[in-house]
Amino acid sequence: MNRAPFLFLGIFLALALSFVGLVLTNQISYGAFLTHVDEGEGKAFPLQAPGLAAQGKLVYQDLGCVSCHTQQVRREGFGSDIGEKSRGWGERQSVARDYLRESRVLLGSQRIGPDLRNFAARKNADGTEHTASALYAYLYHPQAVVKTSNMPAYKYLFKTQPIIGQGSAKALKLPAAAGHEVVPTARAEALVAYLLSLKDTYAYPETKNVYTAPAAAKTQPAKESHK
Ligand code: HEC
Repeated sequence: MNRAPFLFLGIFLALALSFVGLVLTNQISYGAFLTHVDEGEGKAFPLQAPGLAAQGKLVYQDLGCVSCHTQQVRREGFGSDIGEKSRGWGERQSVARDYLRESRVLLGSQRIGPDLRNFAARKNADGTEHTASALYAYLYHPQAVVKTSNMPAYKYLFKTQPIIGQGSAKALKLPAAAGHEVVPTARAEALVAYLLSLKDTYAYPETKNVYTAPAAAKTQPAKESHK
């Protein structure tokens, strides 16, 4: 008996089913996603990252930050990322459209450090916003900021240069060698611009149906009374 047709059919089915399962179903679920044009704001969300932040993403990829930091806020039941009593990594879970503009999505797999997807939307413990200067100091020497930190120091993102005139406004507040100052390199500046652009707070139509922190509304007045 000639088994060639069966063999052919088997191979064809195996390939066709994997194509349907791996490619087609994803295409049907996510392929139709477009940016969401907000008429009121006159912008299309998610916003295109500014040029410097896009360069900083490459630095982030280069340095392997993704090995310790994720960029995906999970809903309740899958982790304690959202909400007052949890780690407060976001006010809603991440949705597929948040990543629409990214050709390489840096979801990560290990949460050794905090999730950074909403880093720029979060505040410091004292209620102040994250600033570039604080981030430079942190990247230069994390243990000077968080004593027990196991985040590596990225000193090579900074250079020591002689102070000319008034010195650089970006210089780190460190005791450097006499007449010298420590300043961020272009890579450090790009990386920090990237970190300060990480913010997924926009409410898309589909985010009405996803998990949002119930305490989100309550935190606002509490923060205001700090001022
Ligand atoms: C070995 C794991 C590790 C690596 C690699 C790492 N981090 Fe971290 N990171 C941490 C940990 C742990 C923390 C938590 C705070 C602490 O202990 O300092 C942290 C905290 C942070 C924070 C503060 C987050 C917050 O919500 O306060 C930022 C920003 C950050 N890391 C950025 C980076 C960047 C950028 C890189 C790559 C250049 C990087 N990290 C690489 C472990 C790591």
